[in-house]
Order: sequence, then C-alpha cells, then structure tokens
Amino acid sequence: MSEVIAIANQKGGVGKTTTAVNLAASLAVAEKRVLLIDLDPQANATIGLGYSRSDYEYNIYHVMIGRKRLSEVVLKTELPLLDLVPSNIGLVGIEKEFYDEKTRGKELILKRKLKELKDEYDYIIIDSPPALGPITVNALSAADSIIIPIQCEFYALEGLAQLLNTVKLVKKSINPKLKIKGFLPTMYSSQNNLSKQVLLDLQQHFKNKLFSIDDDYIVIPRSIKLAESPSFGRPVLLYDVKSKGSVAYQHLAKSILASA
Ligand SMILES: Nc1ncnc2c1ncn2[C@@H]1O[C@H](COP(=O)(O)OP(=O)(O)O)[C@@H](O)[C@H]1O
Ligand SMILES: [Mg+2]
Repeated sequence: MSEVIAIANQKGGVGKTTTAVNLAASLAVAEKRVLLIDLDPQANATIGLGYSRSDYEYNIYHVMIGRKRLSEVVLKTELPLLDLVPSNIGLVGIEKEFYDEKTRGKELILKRKLKELKDEYDYIIIDSPPALGPITVNALSAADSIIIPIQCEFYALEGLAQLLNTVKLVKKSINPKLKIKGFLPTMYSSQNNLSKQVLLDLQQHFKNKLFSIDDDYIVIPRSIKLAESPSFGRPVLLYDVKSKGSVAYQHLAKSILASA
C-alpha cells in the first residue's frame, strides 16, 4: 500500500515545490517507487524535473476532468524509480468547474483517480498550489498525511492557523485519516537569529511534529544549489549530491522511512 503525502501551505515561496521534488527524488534514490503529482497550475515541479510545456500533451487537468486516465499522463524522469504527473496552467480552469457544477464529491476527484495507480508506488507526493482553494482541498482529501514547509523568516507562522483549520475541516468532513506528518523549516540559515527563533517557535508549539534524525531536528538550509537545480531540470541530488540542501532532503527521506 502506498502512502500519499501532500506538501501544502497556502503561502507562496515557502519551499513547497522544492520539498516535493527533492523529497520525492530522495525517496526514489532510497529505492522506493515514487510518483510525484504536480497539482500546481504554475507547473514548477514539472519544469524542475526537466519538462517544458511542449514535451507533453496531457496533464493532471485532463485527468481531473475525466478526459485521460492517470496512467496515461505519467512521465518518466531521470531517476528510474521516480515518475511524474505533470501540470499545466490549464489546471486553473478546474477551479471554475469545481464551483460551477452542482454535483457533490468534487473534493474527492483526485482521491478517486489515484486508486488506479496506488499499488504501483510506495509513495505518492503531491505538490500543491499557494492557495486553500479546491485544488488544495483535493490534495488534502487524497492524502494520508501532510507536510507543511515553513519558511524561516519574519511572519513565518502567520497564516498557519488558517491552514490548520482547513486541515481540521477536511479531517472532519472528508478524510478522517489525514495526519500532519510534520512541519519542515525551510531556507534556514544558522547565522540568522530569525531562523533560530522560527525553529524555537515551532519547537514550542509543535515539538512532536518536527522531523528529526539522530536526535537533531531536520531543517532545510538556505542553499544556492537547491535554488539552482530546477534550472537544470534536476532534483538537487542529481546536481550536487553532497551539497547541504541535498543532504538535508536525504535526511528527511530517511526519517520518513524510519517512521514508516
Ligand atoms: N532551501 C532553499 N534554499 C535556497 N532557495 C530555496 C530553498 N527552498 C526554496 N528555494 C527557492 O525559493 C523559491 C521558492 O521556493 P518554492 O519551492 O518554489 O516555493 P513554493 O512552491 O512554496 O512556492 C524558489 O526560487 C526556490 O528555488
Ligand atoms: Mg510551488
């Protein structure tokens, strides 16, 4: 049975896509079969894995509207155990359709579509858009757990109450099994007091929801290699495997595998 993990936070630029791509790649390198689903119309995860719009005709939007099956839009990546379901700006259209139609159960479309491929993968990672709209609700409804990247900067925890409330609502109404897998501090710099303060705040409020390895909390450091690797269409471990960002995401994968 596969585990479905949604990477979500309605704030933009906090490291969702970077986490989705690099966690997926790290799990694949640890010999797990991984499917990364790009559920953001901006398609940054798709681009970050080396695909451009002209490389593929169909994407997650066509699956969501029932025109294609999930297995028909899966793309291979450079890593043998990592597959990708691409996105495209056309996915914004789905929001309108969600609101227009009167049929119930639209929150569960993705969950239903995943059934077809669930047994083929050990992990299904979903990258979600910077909003708490119907697309993210679909991700949360399909997921077993959620990882919340928290950018280590001023106002880091702002908006978190709203996100946690959405998680609570989805749990109550659609997906009672949904768990918070953990909060992941991102773009951490050890010289920066603000970073330290954010980590302290998270420790204080969500101590048992931080990832750790060998008794150290896992934080994703601010790393130029992490920022550069998408422009080469590669996860960081295929760009600079020994860089601190790459090591941090491998630690995250290890900690997730250890707790499985
Ligand atoms: N740990 C990091 N160190 C340096 N740059 C990062 C790091 N994580 C993300 N970035 C960069 O910050 C920007 C936003 O990250 P991204 O993962 O796209 O966030 P989101 O998906 O939440 O919008 C991107 O340009 C990305 O390359
Ligand atoms: Mg993103």
